[in-house]
Amino acid sequence: MTKKRVALITGAGRGIGRGIALELSKNGFALAGCDILYAPRERKTGLFEVKAAVEKLGGEFLPLRGDIASLGDHEIILRAVLRKFGRLDVLVNNAGVAPEVRRDILETTPESYDRVLSVNARGAFFLTQKAAKEMIALVKKDPAAKPAIIFISSISAAVSSTARAEYCISKAALSMAAKVYADRLAEFGISVYEVRPGIIRTDMTEPVREKYDKLLAEGLVPQRRWGFPEDVGKVVAALAAGAFLYSTGLVLEVSGGMDIRRL
Ligand SMILES: NC(=O)c1ccc[n+]([C@@H]2O[C@H](COP(=O)([O-])OP(=O)(O)OC[C@H]3O[C@@H](n4cnc5c(N)ncnc54)[C@H](O)[C@@H]3O)[C@@H](O)[C@H]2O)c1
Repeated sequence: MTKKRVALITGAGRGIGRGIALELSKNGFALAGCDILYAPRERKTGLFEVKAAVEKLGGEFLPLRGDIASLGDHEIILRAVLRKFGRLDVLVNNAGVAPEVRRDILETTPESYDRVLSVNARGAFFLTQKAAKEMIALVKKDPAAKPAIIFISSISAAVSSTARAEYCISKAALSMAAKVYADRLAEFGISVYEVRPGIIRTDMTEPVREKYDKLLAEGLVPQRRWGFPEDVGKVVAALAAGAFLYSTGLVLEVSGGMDIRRL
C-alpha cells in the first residue's frame, strides 16, 4: 500500500480534470485518472500527456481507460486503482459533457437528454456508490483516513440556460446527489463537497469562446476574466487536503463572483 493519499479523477485527460490532477499532485497525492481519451502513443493530449506533466512535478499518475456512462467500467476502474495503490482516499467526479448541439428547450431531443444525463448524473452517481463502499472499508482499516468525494457540477446546477436544458438538469441532479451522499456518508467520516465552476477556458467552452470573450469584456463576471482549470484545481486540492473537515455538503462556487446578485 502506498504511503501517499490516493485520488481518482474522472475525465482527467484534459481541461478541468487535468488542472485538478496537477494541483492534487502538487499537494502530494498519488493519482489515477480515467477518461475516454486513452491513447498510449498520443503524448500531446489526453491521459498520457497528463501523466507526463504529473511526472514532471515528481508525482505518480495511473492512466485508465474508462467511460463513466458505462456502469460496467466502474468496477474495472476501481479494481485497477486498488491493485496499483492499495487504497482510495479521494474521488473527484469531474467527467462531463455538454450537449453536442445547443438547442432551445422546446427542441431538446430525447437522445441528447439521455446522453448528457447518463454521463453527468447517472455515471457519477453509480461510480460514487461503488467508491463510497471502498472508502467505508478504508476507514474501518485506517480510522485516521479522511476520505472525500468531490462533485464538479456547474453554476448551471442553479442557473437557467434555455439552449441547454439537459445540461442544467444534469448538473442540478448531480448537486442533489452530492447532498444526499454527504448526508449518508457523514457517519463514516467521509466528506462530500460540490464545486460549481463558472466560465472556464477549456475545450468544452472553445465553441463559445468569442461569445464569452465579449460577455466577459462587458462585465458579466465581476472578476472580469475567464476561469482556468487551475482555479478549480486549487479549490479541489484544498477540499481534498482536509481544509474543510467540518463542512460536509459544502457547495463552493468557482466563478469569479457570478453568484453575487447585482443591480
Ligand atoms: N468549462 C467550463 O466552463 C465548465 C463550467 C462548469 C462546469 N464544468 C464541468 O467541469 C467538468 C470538466 O469540464 P471541462 O471544461 O474540462 O470539459 P472538457 O470537455 O474539456 O473535458 C472533459 C473531459 O472528460 C472526458 N469525458 C467525457 N465524457 C466522459 C466519459 N463518459 N467517461 C470518461 N471521461 C469522459 C473528456 O474526454 C475530457 O477529457 C465537466 O463536468 C463540466 O460539465 C465545466
